[in-house]
Amino acid sequence: MKFFKKTIRDVPLEGTTVLLRADYNVPLKEDGSIHDDYRIRASLPTVKRLLKDGCRVVIISHLGRPEGRDQSLSLEPAAQRLAELLREPVRFVDQTIGDKVKMAVKRSPSRGVVVLENLRFHAEEEANDEAFARKIAQDSGAKYFVQDGFGVVHRDHASTAAITLFLPSVAGLLLEKEYVSIVGAMKHPKRPLVAIMGGAKVSDKIQVVDELVEKADHLLIGGAMANTFLANNGIAIGASKFEDGQESVIAKIHAAIDAKVGSDAASDFLELPSDVVVAESIDEPAKNHTVDVTDVAPSERILDIGPKTIKRYVDVINKAGTVIWNGTLGYAELAVFAKGSAAVAEAMVAHTTVESIVGGGDTADFAIHWDKKKGDSFSHVSTGGGASLELMAGEKLPGIEHLLDA
Ligand code: 3PG
Repeated sequence: MKFFKKTIRDVPLEGTTVLLRADYNVPLKEDGSIHDDYRIRASLPTVKRLLKDGCRVVIISHLGRPEGRDQSLSLEPAAQRLAELLREPVRFVDQTIGDKVKMAVKRSPSRGVVVLENLRFHAEEEANDEAFARKIAQDSGAKYFVQDGFGVVHRDHASTAAITLFLPSVAGLLLEKEYVSIVGAMKHPKRPLVAIMGGAKVSDKIQVVDELVEKADHLLIGGAMANTFLANNGIAIGASKFEDGQESVIAKIHAAIDAKVGSDAASDFLELPSDVVVAESIDEPAKNHTVDVTDVAPSERILDIGPKTIKRYVDVINKAGTVIWNGTLGYAELAVFAKGSAAVAEAMVAHTTVESIVGGGDTADFAIHWDKKKGDSFSHVSTGGGASLELMAGEKLPGIEHLLDA
C-alpha cells in the first residue's frame, strides 16, 4: 500500500536544517529516568537518514501534560537517551523558542542533532497557536518540517497543525510505516483478518470495534472488555471489572454482526472466553484458579482467559493471514495473569507469513517486554495509543492531513 503524503524521500533535504517533530512522550520511573525508550528507538531510522543526508536536525516533542514549565517533565533525559542510541552527540536546549534556540542551532555542526525543551511548557502548543508555531519555525532556522511523532498526530496542536503553515511539511519514516502498516491491515488485509480486542473499556474502542466488525473475519475478545460482553449475556462475573451501561452499544455490535454473518455464525465471528482464571484479589495472585466462565463466585475477579479459551483463540490465530491486536487479555501487569496475552503474542509471531500488527499503549508495552527482540518479532508494534485507535477506526488525523500530498 502506498502512502498518500510526501515523505523525507520526496524532497531535497540534503544539507538543510530540518525541524523534526518526534513523540518522545515516554513513560518515566519515579526517579525521573526513562522507563521505556521504545518511542525514542522508533525515531532512529528518520534521524539517521536525515544525518546521512547531511542535515542539521532540530527535534521538538512534548512529554506528559504539564501546566506551564515543570522540570520533572524536561526532555533532557530523552535527549541523553537519543545520544546513547545514536552514538552521536546531541545538544539539549532548555528552551523551545527564543535566542538560546537560535544560538544553539547556529553553533551546531551542519550534520548535528539539537533537542529543544518540552513544547507543552507553552500553553500555545495545545492551543494550536499560529504565532507560536511561526516562532518555532523561525528560531529553528529550518527549511523543512518533518512530522514523525505518530503518537500525537491525532491532536490539533501547534506542532501538528499550525507549524505546517510556515514550512514545507513532509512525513518521516516512522509515520509512513505506522500508516502503511495500520491502514494497510484494515483496508487490504491478507485474509482471514483476525482482530484480538481486550483492555478495560468497550466505550473507548467502540469506533474501532465497529470498523473491525465490518472489516475482520473473526473477533476474539478478552480482558475487562470481555467481562462487559459476558455480563451483558447474563453471565455472573462475580467481582470482575466491567463497564456499566453498555447495553445499547453491545446490542448494536451484535446487530451488525448478525447482519454481516447471520445469527447462526455470530458466536464464531465474535468469540468470548469459555473458561477464565480468577482470584479474590490481585494482592494475592498465587491464590488463583481456573473455572468455566459460568462458575465465577461472587467474590472472585476474572483476571485472565483460561487454557481452553487460549487453545480456541490460538487455533483461530494459526489460520490467520493478518492479526490486529489491541488490548491485553488479562491483568497482564502480573505474569501469572499474562498467560493469555503471552499465548496470543506467541501465536502471532509463530508464522512469518502472518502480518502481525500490535496497537499502541498497554498492548505495545506488553508486546515489547514479552518479545526477546523488543517488538521486532511482530510486523509492526505501533508507537501510538489514541492515534493508532483513531487510524484503525478510519479517521483522518490532522497531523497527517496537513502534510504535502504525494
Ligand atoms: C500519547 O502518549 O498517546 C501521545 O504522546 C499523545 O499524548 P497526549 O494524549 O497527552 O496528547
